[in-house]
Amino acid sequence: MKISFAPLEGITIYCYRNMHHMLFPEGLDRYYTPFISVYKHQAFKKRDMREILPENNKGLEGKIIPQIMTSKADEIVWALKEMKKRGYDEINLNMGCPVATVVSKHKGSGMLADPDHLDEIFYEVFESGITDEVKLSVKTRLGLTAPEEFKELLPVLNKYRFSNVIIHPRVRTQMYKGEPNMEIFRWAYENSKNPISYNGNIFTAEDFYRIKEDFEKLEEIMIGRGLVANPALVREVSTGKKASGNELKALIEGMEGEYTKEIPTEIQIMHKMKELWFYMGPSFTMQDGGNSERLIHKILVSKSISEYRNAKRELFRKCVMD
Ligand SMILES: Cc1cc2nc3c(=O)[nH]c(=O)nc-3n(C[C@H](O)[C@H](O)[C@H](O)COP(=O)(O)O)c2cc1C
Repeated sequence: MKISFAPLEGITIYCYRNMHHMLFPEGLDRYYTPFISVYKHQAFKKRDMREILPENNKGLEGKIIPQIMTSKADEIVWALKEMKKRGYDEINLNMGCPVATVVSKHKGSGMLADPDHLDEIFYEVFESGITDEVKLSVKTRLGLTAPEEFKELLPVLNKYRFSNVIIHPRVRTQMYKGEPNMEIFRWAYENSKNPISYNGNIFTAEDFYRIKEDFEKLEEIMIGRGLVANPALVREVSTGKKASGNELKALIEGMEGEYTKEIPTEIQIMHKMKELWFYMGPSFTMQDGGNSERLIHKILVSKSISEYRNAKRELFRKCVMD
């Protein structure tokens, strides 16, 4: 069973993946890129291309799975060919994104609205022969509004040979809230003709072990927010070693350095860093055993660079041993 880092748009971008791999290399088998859209029918945006350029993924060869987003069969075929040309042998298709602007274009979880149409799309993709040359996996939700929709969707997926069917067992309307539906997930696990992987709400080593024990034949366990919050989570489950304050600080400072190279103003860098602090903040624990919530709150509400720097300094002083 493999362990993977879920794609998180705006967070698990190439510089983050490199930094994460440098600091926490143990146990993680693969990283999915945030979704790369097919643009104007047959193009990738330059910004998205950075995710897959070999020079941006040095040392991670064989561990990167590009994720594409489009719902047109010819665009999927084109994207698979392009990715293959660039040396990738497995590509993931986004069938889960719940954002309204995406769904309204029938992309992401919008692809789940009509099982017959989904069948037509995959028929064309698999007919093209490209899937004999490069593996195609999907990352999907259970449906748009009701988990039972998956009972109509799985038979469609079962008609084709996907390398991996990664299920985030929520429906679109749940966004990232509410409980994953483990009953329908188990039904899918037991009835899929393709390898099945689990994604959703793994925040602790115990969450991970529970899924692993309950579903012994999973192809992969994929972790997103839990791994951003605790970047050593996979190391923890494979070697027992938890993240130190110093390691968390190294990732924060490393990413601030990376963003400084790309983002023009300090205030924009601060806003970008707050996304990371939002997830990682709670992983910092005070050396005296106290609650670090107040310190993280100060970081998240800081309005100026000086407020941000002071709040950060205070948190590091109280949470990180030299
Ligand atoms: C900020 C954010 C960005 C995301 N971007 C993507 C994405 O680009 N592609 C994708 O398939 N899922 C994306 N997701 C969904 C995650 O990959 C994952 O399925 C979801 O967070 C549930 O897993 P988790 O509970 O382990 O985080 C995103 C989620 C969040 C919160």
